Amino acid sequence: MSKSHTIGVIPGDGTGPEVVAEGLKVLGAVSRIYGIDFKFREFDLGGKRYLREGVLLPDSALSDLAQMDAIFLGAIGDPDVPPGILEREILLKMRFKLDLYVNLRPVVLLPGVETPLKDKGPGDIDFVVIRENTEGVYAGGGGFFKKGTPDEIALQESVNTRKGVERCVRYAFECCRRRNRKRRLTLCAKTNVLIYESDLWRRCFEEIRDDYPDIETGYQHVDALCMWMVKNPEEFDVIVTSNLFGDIITDLGAIIQGGLGIAAGGNINPEGTAMFEPMGGSAPKYAGKNVINPMAAIGACQMMLAHLGEAEAAAGLMDAMESVTQHHLSSLEAGKMEYGTSEVGDLVAEKIENLEI
Ligand code: IPM
Ligand code: MN
Repeated sequence: MSKSHTIGVIPGDGTGPEVVAEGLKVLGAVSRIYGIDFKFREFDLGGKRYLREGVLLPDSALSDLAQMDAIFLGAIGDPDVPPGILEREILLKMRFKLDLYVNLRPVVLLPGVETPLKDKGPGDIDFVVIRENTEGVYAGGGGFFKKGTPDEIALQESVNTRKGVERCVRYAFECCRRRNRKRRLTLCAKTNVLIYESDLWRRCFEEIRDDYPDIETGYQHVDALCMWMVKNPEEFDVIVTSNLFGDIITDLGAIIQGGLGIAAGGNINPEGTAMFEPMGGSAPKYAGKNVINPMAAIGACQMMLAHLGEAEAAAGLMDAMESVTQHHLSSLEAGKMEYGTSEVGDLVAEKIENLEI
């Protein structure tokens, strides 16, 4: 085997370990067929460990994670941990400390998968959202004044740096060029109301686009963009936006591509490491039942392969996923799939083993 990649694996909580197991099964098949050597290193992080040991994301784990070529995360979340702690102290901390400044969310309807959008098929829903991942309101600035009194004031600040906006916008142009589809990049902001934040985004976007004369550019206010995502999703190719708007529109994206059973994303530092994850969360009520759909986790592995430069393997895995959704999975919802979690992993792995390459 010639190529080797070191992958940090965070199975995490709830259904995380089950879907990660299927992702690893599929990567095993990829490794055999494409001659890629993966070295996996598991990290015990998440709500379970926090409840057991009071440990969230220690500095030692962070520096080890920073050394990984990529990170594969199942899910973090536990009903016994108050909301916000695991999100802020593990997921967001990882984004900030590893400077994973791009959140990459393909919104692709695979063949055979149902979309709630009337009269739309796979060719119509195929775009990518690039969400800034380390700034905006997620930076956590603000505070209370006179908390708990009738005169209380809550301030929530949105931090947007020129450097942060520029690097994200530039990544989006590059991504659009690499994708080489419609070559259309849409800036999503709210210039009519957010007169500082969105103005900075608009100016950076307009300056950078001069370097990309081959890319057609457009602009949508975030509210209108939500309507167009539903009405005319085929108009989009790549969308670039700020952290909170990206968070919101990618959930809309997830549902039009068939739901959380299929949606995967990447948190990327193009100069460092990157973390790939299914978007579905820990789904505690389905944990241990072999009913959750592992397709999103497998999709996260597919994105990871592409990111690692394994283009051929990434394309092969995408073919295998499409073949499985087309022929075997009419419903992707937990509890409604006609296959169990591990059988879906088997189906994808078998398709890869049978690929002619
Ligand atoms: C996401 C999630 C996170 C976010 C939460 C869990 C903090 O919704 O990755 O989109 O808001 O970014
Ligand atoms: Mn979200």
